[in-house]
Amino acid sequence: MKRLTEEEFNRFAKLIYDESGIFLKDTKITLLSNRLRKRLQALDIAEFSDYYNYLQSLPSKEKALEYEKMLDVVSTNETFFFRNERHFDALSQVCLQEIAKVKTDRTLRIWSSACSTGEEPYTIAICVKESMHLFSGWDIEILATDIAPSVIQFANIAEYSGRRIEKVPTEILKKYFTQKKGDPSVYVVNDDIKKMVTFYYHNFFKSVFPKDIDIIFCRNVMIYFDKRHQVELVAKFYQCILDHGYLFIGHSETLHSISEDFSYRKILEAPVYVPNPRR
Ligand SMILES: C[S@@+](CC[C@H](N)C(=O)[O-])C[C@H]1O[C@@H](n2cnc3c(N)ncnc32)[C@H](O)[C@@H]1O
Repeated sequence: MKRLTEEEFNRFAKLIYDESGIFLKDTKITLLSNRLRKRLQALDIAEFSDYYNYLQSLPSKEKALEYEKMLDVVSTNETFFFRNERHFDALSQVCLQEIAKVKTDRTLRIWSSACSTGEEPYTIAICVKESMHLFSGWDIEILATDIAPSVIQFANIAEYSGRRIEKVPTEILKKYFTQKKGDPSVYVVNDDIKKMVTFYYHNFFKSVFPKDIDIIFCRNVMIYFDKRHQVELVAKFYQCILDHGYLFIGHSETLHSISEDFSYRKILEAPVYVPNPRR
């Protein structure tokens, strides 16, 4: 089985870093070889160096498309419903309640950034649905974005099984999912939840950010970026979050030494960040 040489690894790692902010240590050489091999097979290219040259030779539109496909195979998309449940307790029992109290324009905009295969935004949608008594007549939008086109496709199909749904409480599974005909181990998200979420492609370091967001989820992705990109990303979040907003990051992530625009607030055992007053 072919493996990247050190020099090839460095060239691809730089390309990936420049395009996505994803920083690959040189210990990731086998992982990157395995992931890139999928593109080589799809294009019927034998050597990693030929794939690199092929990428460079493409006209700009085709190059952008192939970069998307390359980042698609390179990205790590691990996720599941109700991942880190404490976040969703905080969301349901505190954040949504507070927003319902303070907002006068009756709009709720939540952004699941780096949403992967959709489990996170659908979990958010379920929490909002369960709190619907607070938002009757409100205009509700849940945006869900990712850099990997294939995960967005998967999310739009909204069929889940196994580990992905292990943490869904039984009553929630019954209420918001339907077992697939012919394959009862697969659970399909019901339309009332599906239609609450809008999925689209978004690269943190190339795409325009949405505006006026009440709640941002950005969990388990900053770990893939170096400090420069983490600082840039959180500064952009500060620009698009509303004053009363909340930012959820992964439980192994921190904004310490990354941003002074947000303050840490522990809500029901969940680590949450709130924006500091604008200067
Ligand atoms: C491990 S998943 C996290 C999924 C979910 N947020 C969770 O916590 O369960 C990380 C996701 O970040 C996405 N990602 C990586 N770099 C990105 C970038 N520059 N812009 C947007 N998404 C990115 C990957 O495609 C991947 O789906």
